[in-house]
Amino acid sequence: MTFPKQTVKDVDVQGKKILLRTMLNVPIKDGVVSDTMRLQAALPTIQYLLDQNAALVLISHHSTEGQTLAPAAKSLSDLLGQEVQFATDCIGNEVESAVAGLQAGQVLMLENLRFHPEEEANDPEFAKTLASYGELFVQDDFTTCHRKHASMVGVPQYLPAVAGLEVALEVETIDAAIDEPKRPLVAVSGGAKVSTKVPILSFLLGKVDSLFIGGAMANTFLLAKGLPIGKSLVEADQVELCKKILAEAETQGKTVVLPVDVVVAKSVDPPSDVRTVSVNDVADDDIIADIGAQSVAQLDSVLSADGTIIWNGPVGIFETPEFASGTAGVADKIIASGGYSVIGGGDTCDYVDNAHLHDKFSFVSTGGGASLELMSGNTLPGVEALLDKK
Ligand code: 3PG
Repeated sequence: MTFPKQTVKDVDVQGKKILLRTMLNVPIKDGVVSDTMRLQAALPTIQYLLDQNAALVLISHHSTEGQTLAPAAKSLSDLLGQEVQFATDCIGNEVESAVAGLQAGQVLMLENLRFHPEEEANDPEFAKTLASYGELFVQDDFTTCHRKHASMVGVPQYLPAVAGLEVALEVETIDAAIDEPKRPLVAVSGGAKVSTKVPILSFLLGKVDSLFIGGAMANTFLLAKGLPIGKSLVEADQVELCKKILAEAETQGKTVVLPVDVVVAKSVDPPSDVRTVSVNDVADDDIIADIGAQSVAQLDSVLSADGTIIWNGPVGIFETPEFASGTAGVADKIIASGGYSVIGGGDTCDYVDNAHLHDKFSFVSTGGGASLELMSGNTLPGVEALLDKK
């Protein structure tokens, strides 16, 4: 599957002043970037443009209200091995003179775009001002491409806009895993709510050979099959939909794998009376908090070294050690299968990152919401806004 948009490799960037939307929405603790995964993924495009003698004006947001991007400038400067200048705003006179004075090969980072509500409102004047900082716009923040903000869809209205290498890689990899997979294709879906995962489940059902469902979402499916779920998290209004998905899977000849055993507790915070029981034996006052070892073992019969696995969503409350075995087991099974694995979704990527398992999977997306949109068969507005390949 070829990426349908122009990238930095398709246009002349030599010596140009480039406005680069990059991924600076990174974890910051005590004023220091605590995880550089996104910055590392941003480096190839930055380095490529610097090698072409471009001058770079970096723009980005941070999700935490009021969070300055100054620590990201420091961290990026360390990774790049060169100074990253920092402007304390993203619009105004100070920025304009810093941009005007920027020389070839230099990097200037502007302050958090979301300090101005015009960013999220996709205000045209704000977008126009940002666009005035460069001769070309490069979109390389895959993680935010699902947002219709000024730096995503507004700027391309005023400046020729192409994709950075990370955006192209993410879209190509995830789309290819779904549309041109080595088979069998297995989706492992977890997470809390069926309602937020319905678009993914419905879309992926048409693509996969097997669908493995875990997490609190599985409770609603178990209830749809008439099994007891005690006091577990459930979406009663989604039961009919779960029945439909199960019936549709049968019609399409697809395998849906649901938990056969679960880790239950009388209370999850703090955990009390934690036990593993068959899905037939969940008591009225039990709360399901993870899938059991036999459930995880079912992956052996669907995963294959020749196949592809798309994993989105943890299968238990993995933040609590007592309920983390299911998610750890799923990770182990996927790795051990030797299949081509693509990991998406914020919680799953966080899990993989914190467990230092990043390098064991074929591809771990930098994006949470953005990767889930692609896994739901949707296009991303931030990508759609870019110039088509000629
Ligand atoms: C992300 O971390 O998912 C992206 O950077 C988007 O951030 P947001 O959810 O604050 O829009």
